[in-house]
Order: sequence, then C-alpha cells, then structure tokens
Amino acid sequence: MTHQQPTSPRRTPVTVLGLGPMGLALAEALLEHGHPATVWNRTPEKADSLAAKGVRRAGTVAEAVSASPVTVICLKDYATMYAVLDSAGDALKGRLLVNLNSGTPDEARTAATWANGRGCAYLDGAIMVPPPLVGHPESVFLYSGSRQVFDAHRAALASMGDPRYLGSDPSLAVLYNAALLDMMYATMNGFLHAAALVGSAGVPAATFAGLALDWFMPSVVNSTLTEQAPALDKGDYPGDAGTMEMNLNALEHITRTCAEQGIHSDQPRLMKAIAEQAIAQGQGGKNYLAVFEVFKKAAQA
Ligand SMILES: NC(=O)c1ccc[n+]([C@@H]2O[C@H](COP(=O)([O-])OP(=O)(O)OC[C@H]3O[C@@H](n4cnc5c(N)ncnc54)[C@H](OP(=O)(O)O)[C@@H]3O)[C@@H](O)[C@H]2O)c1
Repeated sequence: MTHQQPTSPRRTPVTVLGLGPMGLALAEALLEHGHPATVWNRTPEKADSLAAKGVRRAGTVAEAVSASPVTVICLKDYATMYAVLDSAGDALKGRLLVNLNSGTPDEARTAATWANGRGCAYLDGAIMVPPPLVGHPESVFLYSGSRQVFDAHRAALASMGDPRYLGSDPSLAVLYNAALLDMMYATMNGFLHAAALVGSAGVPAATFAGLALDWFMPSVVNSTLTEQAPALDKGDYPGDAGTMEMNLNALEHITRTCAEQGIHSDQPRLMKAIAEQAIAQGQGGKNYLAVFEVFKKAAQA
C-alpha cells in the first residue's frame, strides 16, 4: 500500500473529522504545533472558534480529506466513521486515516480492512487523556497498524501527545485501551468503596486518602504488582507467604464488615465469589495472584 508521504514531518497538513470535545482539542493541538489544519463536522458551527484562529473549514467530507495527506477521525464510534467517510469516495485514495474514536478490537480490524480496500493507509488509536491534556508531550496516545506508516507520521502524531506504538495488529490500541480503563475503573472503585467503609465511622475521605495511598503504592503496586508480574506469565503462584484460602477468609471479613457498618457490599461479594472460583479450580493453596487463571477464561454458564 502506498500513500502520500508528508513533505515536512513537523508541519504535515492534517484534517480532523469530528469536533466533539476531543476533536476540538486535537485540532487546537495540531494548530498550535504549526500544522495547517482543515476540519469538518456534521454541525459546522462547532468549527467557528477554530476558523477564527486560521483553521480551514471544509464544506464536505471529500473536500476535508483531500486537503491533507493525514486525516484524524474523532467521531462518536465506528458506525459514525463509516457513515461519514462513505461520502468521501475516491478522495480517500492514497491518504492516511488515523482513527481515534473508541470501540472494540473486532471493530478496529474491520475498519483497517475497510480502509485498505479503499486505497487508504490506516492506523487505529486510542487517547488515554481527557481533552484538556491533549497536546501535552506526556499525554499517552496508543497506536497500532503498520510500523512504517506510524514511523513516517510520528512527528505529526506527537503534536497531539506522546505516541506509543503497540504493534502491527490494528486491534491492539483499542484492546490496550479497554484493559487500561478496566484497571482504572476497578482501582477507582476499590478506593471509593474503601473510603465509604471508613466513612461509615465518620472518617473524611481526604483523611483516609493520605494513609491509603501511602500504603497502596509500596505494598500493592510496587512489591506485589511490579515485582510479581513476571510470575503471571509463568503461572507461578507459590502460596508459602499466604494462600488463596487465607485471602478468602479476608474477603469474608470485608463482606461481613460492610454488613455491620451498613454499606454497599456487592463489590466485596463479587471479589469473594471470584476467589471461591479459583479455589474450585484447584488454586486454594496458591497465592492470591492465581486469580489471574480465573480471569483468563470466560465464566462457565
Ligand atoms: N471526551 C473524552 O474525554 C474522550 C477521551 C478519550 C477518547 N474519547 C473518544 O473520542 C471520540 C469522540 O469523543 P468526544 O468526547 O469528542 O464526543 P462524542 O460525543 O463521543 O462524539 C462527538 C462527535 O461525533 C459526531 N457525531 C455523532 N453522531 C454523528 C453522526 N450520526 N453523523 C456525523 N457525526 C456524528 C459529532 O458531531 P456533531 O458535533 O454534529 O454532533 C461530534 O463531532 C469518542 O469515540 C470517545 O470515546 C473521548
């Protein structure tokens, strides 16, 4: 697949399709980094502030895509992307599409095949920061697809944030995105539930946060997750310092404490049920990280 190469890597003209909060932030960042920018949005008035700063507003999707070798797509979802790009027809040929909307791995793979079938290069991506952090050099953006295409356009991608290349399978960016958000929601829920538990005794969340985070980073993140991650890949969970049975006992105490204190207990009960599944699968004498073996398989009906 050949596509137009940027003439100047630092100032590649870039088109942005979609001006929701995120698309607006992307177009602003590209403009601030000196890229001639063209935008299109279903609701054209959302481009007013950008047009006042010198961004070109295209009247049609075909006109927008034709204006730049690179088109960044930041629409609601993949279905919207197809609905919008279908009208571009032959204008897509030879361009690079960088799709940054959220979705699933299957949707990303299908989109890559769709784009290649229309003569476009395609990178799938995921944005790991909210709109106000777009354009900062430490803001992580995930990409997957052709390494050659990624390298050729790395400078333009770096104008939006810190571009991290994950591999040639186009689905990897959205897969990592789902995994990282999975971790984020589980961690936030863990803290929020714990704050509610001590809050039942009148402890302010701000008071609890200091002690909780001082304990969590060295004890859980550093000495458990960082040090023991290689053991997950080996399936090695020695129970000498504490077994799954012991952890089930701790989860039982947490569940009963929630009941005594009169707070919500679905979350600890789910964690207890997962530990019970691990024990049912023969992991009772292993350490708690053997729960990884439960998570690797879909639940049995
Ligand atoms: N906002 C965040 O914090 C954040 C963070 C990471 C990733 N993302 C992802 O970035 C993508 C964009 O998010 P967003 O926050 O900017 O807002 P959004 O509400 O997800 O998407 C808004 C954009 O989609 C367009 N759109 C929706 N339906 C359409 C249709 N039927 N035809 C044409 N255009 C349509 C909107 O056009 P109109 O303006 O005309 O309605 C607007 O340009 C999403 O996939 C989101 O998951 C967002």
